[in-house]
Amino acid sequence: KNIVILISGRGSNFEAILRASREQRWEQNPGARIAAVISNRPGARGLETARREGIPAVAVDHKLFPTREAFEERLAQEVDRFEPDLIVLAGFMRILTERFVAPREGKILNIHPALLPLFKGLDTHQRAIDAGVRVHGSTVHFVSAALDGGAIIGQAVVPVLPSDTAETLAARGLELEHVLYPRVCRAVLEGRVRLEGGRAVMDDDT
Ligand code: GRF
Repeated sequence: KNIVILISGRGSNFEAILRASREQRWEQNPGARIAAVISNRPGARGLETARREGIPAVAVDHKLFPTREAFEERLAQEVDRFEPDLIVLAGFMRILTERFVAPREGKILNIHPALLPLFKGLDTHQRAIDAGVRVHGSTVHFVSAALDGGAIIGQAVVPVLPSDTAETLAARGLELEHVLYPRVCRAVLEGRVRLEGGRAVMDDDT
């Protein structure tokens, strides 16, 4: 099975998935590998990591396309070239429309740095602090055309401490993302989590 990872920057979640896939030998079970990393920003640090690790690294610079549709069409071509069974958005900062999402529904995952359905969109850590919530975290969900609105698969929770800034809160959450995201990817690849009727279906012990 082929995993295609879409990024826009640092790529630490990509690295966590890569590490898990190697340590846990995903090539044998569930028979999967990262086939490519694609970024809409040519300078993304994650692309360098991919190259260094011998993984095809592709840039599709959204700034070079006149419309969102044109960008998305090219992105789709590049993604499809690697015949993905799973498309993993990991810090990918472009909105994908119905045209991209619908034909691939149930095969695209995203990680959002908040406990959805709270704090969709940007700037989640500062907004959590401003709202005075005592817990925060991250959510992995199937991607639908509604921004940060797809079926929830897994969540990781961190405390919000009185001394927290957006940066310290983000760092605490990121550590857990690196555990959560590879786990969810593996479960989806093994068929233990599926999208059915708009909801994520899984066994109790997944
Ligand atoms: C993560 O916090 C993720 O939740 C959000 O963007 C960040 C990506 O970080 N969607 P990285 O590029 O994986 O290091």
